[in-house]
Amino acid sequence: MATTKSGIRLATRLDEVGFSDIVQIRNTIMAMRAEGLQVHALHGGEPYFETPEAIKFAAIQALVENQTHYAPSSGVLPLRKALVDKLATKNAINTTTDEVIVTVGGMQALYAGFQSVLDPGDDALIFSPYWTPIGDLVTGSQARPLLVPTATARRNGIRNTLEQFSTPRTRAIYYNTPQNPSGLVFTRAEAQEVADFAIDRDLVVISDEAYEDLVYDGEHVSIASLPGMAERTITAFTFSKTYAMTGWRAGYAVAKEPFITALRKIVLYSTNGVSTPVQYAMIQALKTPESQIAAHREEYRKRRDLLVTALNEVGLECESPAGAFYAFPNVEKVHKKSRTAAQILLEKAHIATIPGSVFGAQGEGHLRFGYAITTREIEDCVEALRAFFA
Ligand SMILES: Cc1ncc(COP(=O)(O)O)c(C=O)c1O
Repeated sequence: MATTKSGIRLATRLDEVGFSDIVQIRNTIMAMRAEGLQVHALHGGEPYFETPEAIKFAAIQALVENQTHYAPSSGVLPLRKALVDKLATKNAINTTTDEVIVTVGGMQALYAGFQSVLDPGDDALIFSPYWTPIGDLVTGSQARPLLVPTATARRNGIRNTLEQFSTPRTRAIYYNTPQNPSGLVFTRAEAQEVADFAIDRDLVVISDEAYEDLVYDGEHVSIASLPGMAERTITAFTFSKTYAMTGWRAGYAVAKEPFITALRKIVLYSTNGVSTPVQYAMIQALKTPESQIAAHREEYRKRRDLLVTALNEVGLECESPAGAFYAFPNVEKVHKKSRTAAQILLEKAHIATIPGSVFGAQGEGHLRFGYAITTREIEDCVEALRAFFA
C-alpha cells in the first residue's frame, strides 16, 4: 500500500495495477534517438499510414458547424445507428442503438467491461500471452487474472484447458482475436468451444476485436454472433487500427442488459462521452469502402511476409501470424530470457522490440516485432538483423 509519512494513502484497488513496460521501452528509444542513433522501431502498434483525409475533414466540418456541445454520453444517434449497421453486416451481431456505446478508444470499452462484471475476489480467465493492460484492468477491478496458456489450449482442447484453469470464483473470460501479441486468429470451432464453456459455466465473455479487419488467413468470427452468446458478451471495438485513428481515442462497445447500463454509468462518470467532433469523424470513418480496408490489409500482409521470412532465415523461428500486425518469434537463440534478448537486439542491432515476458509467462522466450511500419523500415530492420546474425 502506498502511504505518505502523514498517513495519506492511495486507494488499495491500485496496489496491483502496474504501468506498462512498453512505455519504458519507448523512453529508452527516445533517449537513443536523442543521441543521434538510428533505431529500427518495431516495438509499436500504430498503423503505418495517416488518418484518411475524409475523416480529418469530417472532424473539421463538425467544428465549423459548431458540433462542439455536450453530446449524449453514450454517443450521438447517427453514429450509434451507423455502428448498428456495421455490427449487423460485418460482425453478424444484431443489435439496437440502445445496446451500443461510444467509448474513448477500445481501452475505455475494455475498462468499462471489466469494471461492470468483476467483483473484488473474482477470477477472470485470460488466454496468454495476452495484451499487457488486460492484467491491470482485471487487478484494477480487484479481481485475479487466471492465465490460460493458449498454445496448450489449442493443442489439448480449448474447453478442457479452460476447465483446468478455472476456479469457483471465475466470472469472466477475456477473449481476443486476432490476438496481440501473437497474431493468432481463433477459428470458428475454437470460438464455439469458448462459447460452450461460457454458457455451461454461466460466464461473461469480454471480447476484444481491435484487429477485426486484419485477418490474413482464416476468418474473423465475433463470438457474440454465436447462438446464446449475445446476452453474455461485452464486445470492445476500436477505430485505432482499421482507420489509423490511434490518437483520436475512438472506440465502442456492444452489450445487452444488464451490462449496457453498467457501461453507460462508467462512461458517464469517467469521461461523460467522447468528444463531439471526434464522433462525427467516426461516422465518416464508417463510410470507408471495404476495398480501401482490404487494400491496407494487403499492405500489412506484404509486410508480414517480408518480416517473417527474414526472421526464419536468420534462425528466429516464427510461425506466420494469421492476423493483427505483430510477429512473435522464438528468440532463445539470442537469449533465453526475453528481456535480455530485447536488450541485446536494441544495443547491438538497434532493433526495438517488446520482450515476450511482458505479455505473461507464456510469452517468455519470444519477442514481439510490430510490422505496422513502412516497407522501407522493415527492409532496414531485416538488413540489421542479417548483419547481427552474420
Ligand atoms: C488487443 C488490443 N485491444 C485493444 C486495444 C485498444 O486500443 P485503443 O485504446 O487505441 O482503441 C489495443 C491497442 O493496442 C490492442 O492491442
